[in-house]
Amino acid sequence: MGNCFPNSSTKSTSEISPATAKPTSAVTVKLSGPPNSLATSYLRFALLHKKVHLRFVPSEDEKPTIHVGAETVSGSQEVLLRYIEDKFPEPRLMLWKFNLEGFDEATPPIVKMIWLQHRSMLWHMERMVRWSEDLAARGGRRAVDPSVGTPKMEIRKFAKSYSQLHEIMVEHAQMEERILFPVLESVDRGMCKSANDEHGRELPMMNGIKEYIKSIGVMMDSGVCSEELFSLASRFKSLQMMCKAHFEEEEKDLLPMVEAAEMGEKKQKKLLNQSLELMRGTHSNVCDFLLQGLTPQEAMQYLDLLMNFADPNFISSFICQQDIAG
Ligand SMILES: [Fe+2]
Repeated sequence: MGNCFPNSSTKSTSEISPATAKPTSAVTVKLSGPPNSLATSYLRFALLHKKVHLRFVPSEDEKPTIHVGAETVSGSQEVLLRYIEDKFPEPRLMLWKFNLEGFDEATPPIVKMIWLQHRSMLWHMERMVRWSEDLAARGGRRAVDPSVGTPKMEIRKFAKSYSQLHEIMVEHAQMEERILFPVLESVDRGMCKSANDEHGRELPMMNGIKEYIKSIGVMMDSGVCSEELFSLASRFKSLQMMCKAHFEEEEKDLLPMVEAAEMGEKKQKKLLNQSLELMRGTHSNVCDFLLQGLTPQEAMQYLDLLMNFADPNFISSFICQQDIAG
């Protein structure tokens, strides 16, 4: 698994992630710990939020360790977080409650998870839109940034990025249709009709874009194809607009109803785990990609949900197959 947060200043605009905002602190922090652990990843995002220069060193030690200058601190996640917060007071970590966008302790975990997935998908969508516009503006010519490679290499990278986003979007929609919507429909039939219809319209569009990128890759063998690149950019823009409106509608009309359905804690936990099971591909193959679309603090909230509500055996069966900290 590659580095999910490239920090090279030579990256093109499409390669910039919210977590790569330039470090503002002059301090370098070394974090070591197992690369496939949620706890290590959580601490990594806490340090990224503090905008320090971060060096991650994978280690087999069970417990993550932080080194700052001559100081070395090891211990529980809580101890290390306290240390980070004391050592680098600004910007503060909002550690003790889920306090983004009006969520509180009563907000069901599945609602928080869906909301965070929407944030990540929208961020990636925006990145793809900008990247496709940049490709079209260059008329298929080589990017200024040499690390992008030849146009053929670039379109391959573009296709890979889109297929990762596609995997998350398809699984996210299936999860809503099979887990969330039936719960809401059982309390008020017809409530999810419009969201279901939206999914039905978006899926063919998403698949169409996938095929179109493939055909552009083939066409590139015989030279530039600026017209197709402009058409690709406009398809992305339409998909982005559709998704934005649809996510907003879900967040406004459907997600508050999950809380209103007054499910017990046990049922809520079950729903979250069923959702994770349905999104196994996302969490096995593209978890770092999903987290990349979030700010460090949002990524911490996502990991927090997994650590607090997901079945530990289930988590170790998929999330530990990849390096999500490095
Ligand atoms: Fe959704």
